Amino acid sequence: MKELAETGVDIFRAKELLETGELVGIPTETVYGLAANALDALAVAKIFQVKDRPSFDPLIVHIASFAKLNAYVREIPQWAEQLAEKYWPGPLTLVLPKHDSIPDIVTSGLDTVAIRVPNHSLTLELLAQLAFPLAAPSANPFGFISPTTAQHVLDQLGPKISYVLDGGPCTVGIESTIIGEVEGETTILRFGGLSQEAIESVIGPVRIQVQHTSNLLAPGGLESHYAPRHPVRLGTGVPEGFDLDRIAALRFTTPLAGIPHGNQRVLSPKGDLVEAATNLFAALRDLDKLDVDLILAEPVPNLGLGRAINDRLKRASAKY
Ligand code: TXA
Ligand code: MG
Repeated sequence: MKELAETGVDIFRAKELLETGELVGIPTETVYGLAANALDALAVAKIFQVKDRPSFDPLIVHIASFAKLNAYVREIPQWAEQLAEKYWPGPLTLVLPKHDSIPDIVTSGLDTVAIRVPNHSLTLELLAQLAFPLAAPSANPFGFISPTTAQHVLDQLGPKISYVLDGGPCTVGIESTIIGEVEGETTILRFGGLSQEAIESVIGPVRIQVQHTSNLLAPGGLESHYAPRHPVRLGTGVPEGFDLDRIAALRFTTPLAGIPHGNQRVLSPKGDLVEAATNLFAALRDLDKLDVDLILAEPVPNLGLGRAINDRLKRASAKY
């Protein structure tokens, strides 16, 4: 087996690897990405290989600034321009008609491309120095929990890549919100780090279409996703037939009585959904390392970033 990837803040090294068609782990404000030159179909193919990702699941393209968008999409509707102006760089991905410059492997043959400007200083500096955009899905094996630290990337993909740019823990902690047009209507395709309320405050009411389990129209949309090794169940009470000592609990504001404290993670004692989102994936990872039979996850209030959190919990528990 190859050695583990190195981590560091060497932008020049990341640039050289990417320029020679290699993959690099990159920090963003949402989750860490596994990046390749988006204009190089062979480099992008390596992403699918390393992630074990089905090639029908298209990737997000990361650009340095709004000014670059024109080079990769055929048109920029007014809603997209308004949202980009307000929220880029940030946890917002726009799905727009794709320009021929983007290879089909990036979009799985779709006529649209998903694109965003990430809000992380290291990655923005890297993008500014590159002559091409970066295709990058979350840097986890397909179907598993997304990484929010460089160490998470090493744990899951360490032997398969050579370098991870270490930008510290992700500040948002949950993937970007994806928005596009469906049947001519502006539609949220994945709940994420930018709330529906924040979007609607700029462009008015939008349609929601995130429930699908089909692969193409529903991004991140496979029903079972973000899955830990242990079974996850949604709920606030201990299900029958389980030993209290062998349950782990993922809680919103308070621990659950009767369960050992070491087996619990509280996402935000003060009930802040933004803080809860930041802590979500690392907490799930911690609990998954315990020797337990079940992870009991408490849903959070379904507003703001709570919708994205509940979506991830639902998918993490989909198999059980
Ligand atoms: O926050 C994020 O978005 C992170 C960071 C690294 O930027 N990336 C991320 O990528 O979450 P990934 O690959 O794990 O999820 C991207 C989702 C996929 O599930 C895919 O189905 C959807 O975006 N997607 C990509 N292109 C699309 C398109 N043209 N139309 C609809 N959905 C698309
Ligand atoms: Mg992902």
